[in-house]
Amino acid sequence: MLSYRHLFHAGNFADVFKHPLLTRLLLALNQKDKPYFYLDTHAGIGRYDLSKPWAQKNREFETGIKKLWARDDVPAALKPYLDIVRAENADGHARFYPGSPLIARRLIRPIDRIVATELNKTDCAELQTLFARDRRVTVKLMDGYQSLKAHLPPKERRGLVLIDSSFDRAREFARIAAALREAHQRWETGIYALWYPLMGAGVIRGFERDLLATGIKKVLQFELRILPDDASTIPGCGMIIINPPWKFDTEMRTLLRWLWSALSINGAGGVKVEWLARE
Ligand SMILES: C[S@@+](CC[C@H](N)C(=O)[O-])C[C@H]1O[C@@H](n2cnc3c(N)ncnc32)[C@H](O)[C@@H]1O
Repeated sequence: MLSYRHLFHAGNFADVFKHPLLTRLLLALNQKDKPYFYLDTHAGIGRYDLSKPWAQKNREFETGIKKLWARDDVPAALKPYLDIVRAENADGHARFYPGSPLIARRLIRPIDRIVATELNKTDCAELQTLFARDRRVTVKLMDGYQSLKAHLPPKERRGLVLIDSSFDRAREFARIAAALREAHQRWETGIYALWYPLMGAGVIRGFERDLLATGIKKVLQFELRILPDDASTIPGCGMIIINPPWKFDTEMRTLLRWLWSALSINGAGGVKVEWLARE
């Protein structure tokens, strides 16, 4: 039984952290002519209506996309992401928020391919409807970890895997580290992006140790904190990127510092950019 529904959280600060990074990774893949593959293991519904009751319940988008929506001073690196959000809202009101598979669909070229998997039946059906007429996109009702086994390595031999779990099970961190180890054995040269919530220093240190123990190299870690560590909710979130593009660390540091200044609550938190493992 899945308890998490992204409907309640769409456009929150975690989305506004992960989706610009996703956008930059896909734009980097677009730099080369050869086709690539994008796998979204925990895909959600693709497009979220923020005017619906579930989004209005906690109005999480208020501390996320709403804080960026009207800004006209965003750094150049953030603009492609905001352009995608704005393209969903041609009338100028921030009502629809694009999830990761829709962001990817906007960025891939005719030669590229997406597989999006989702375990919630209702959400998966919605995503299938959204992409029904796009032959570049395949949507499957499937467990995200099975999806890694089923789809890697891809025939394109280049591309990106987003693992964006809802972390609604205990020991999800250990499960993800194990899944990454196996996926990386199948496909060593792929780019992997893995989102995680900052659930406490001990949990995160354990996760970092598990990742190091996989022996995987070129592991870059980003974190964005917008609340004090003793806040009643998670103070921030992180993203692990394996095989990032050239200079991704320095470019994203600037972007994340700007995001922190836009999203931080009363100046709390900060940004972390570190290599967990290099070449
Ligand atoms: C954080 S949301 C994904 C959001 C989406 N990646 C985005 O950025 O728009 C996590 C999703 O994973 C789904 N999910 C939970 N467990 C899963 C599993 N084992 N395999 C695939 N999907 C799963 C949930 O139903 C939820 O839609």
